[in-house]
Amino acid sequence: MEKREQLYSGKAKSVFATDEQDHLVILFRNDTSAFDGQKVEQLERKGMVNNKFNAFIMEKLEAAGIPTHFEGLLSDVESQVKRLEMIPVECVVRNVAAGSICRRLGIEEGRELNPPTFELFLKNDALHDPMINEYHIRSFGWAKAEDVEKMKALTFKVNDVLKQLFLDAGMILVDYKLEFGLFHGELLLGDEFSPDGCRIWDRDTREKLDKDRFRQDLGNVIESYELVGRRLGISFD
Ligand SMILES: Nc1ncnc2c1ncn2[C@@H]1O[C@H](COP(=O)(O)OP(=O)(O)O)[C@@H](O)[C@H]1O
Ligand SMILES: [Mg+2]
Repeated sequence: MEKREQLYSGKAKSVFATDEQDHLVILFRNDTSAFDGQKVEQLERKGMVNNKFNAFIMEKLEAAGIPTHFEGLLSDVESQVKRLEMIPVECVVRNVAAGSICRRLGIEEGRELNPPTFELFLKNDALHDPMINEYHIRSFGWAKAEDVEKMKALTFKVNDVLKQLFLDAGMILVDYKLEFGLFHGELLLGDEFSPDGCRIWDRDTREKLDKDRFRQDLGNVIESYELVGRRLGISFD
């Protein structure tokens, strides 16, 4: 497979066509952004760390029966994926309250959510990713009702797999965001799973180990990503 022209450059990754219609290359860059792209910095090693972190998680999810776009690592910072028609919706599960839900609903950070919540957001930076519900998705034709049901079921299945994986490694999976897309009509998990798109706390100290370190200027951002990865058994060298 040969890498061809760049199709898209997002906030953290760039997407390239290949000589095969059904396959893309995703390049994980060091760019780190928050607050809908208002705060942007280059963090050394981030592309490599997130690429390897994502590969590890996607393989765990595949092994657990969750269909994903991931096909393999191509280099330290590139992965091969299936080309999806992305559904412009973010699926979020929260096991513990943190971030926007605290502001929106006046909930204190750290409150356990039992059962976990499921939320949908429109992927649109200009509109600040507004919260939507299943009816908006259907009315505006962003996805079919049956695919919305599948996204929800798969997002919760991911929780079953990853909550335990992180707990076994001494960490709490606080929340995470997933994106899905269609591959010849079949719904697959797309995009990435890395500390950029989830919250992870140390189980005992509750120290934040995810992108909140960047958002809140807590320092040691990539060191923390690597710590999380190493605890899961990922090797970054
Ligand atoms: N398998 C895939 N096929 C096509 N597009 C994808 C796939 N996986 C992820 N994407 C899209 O590629 C982009 C990845 O780059 P990213 O920096 O995350 O962009 P953004 O700023 O739009 O979130 C996202 O827009 C994501 O929806
Ligand atoms: Mg993104």
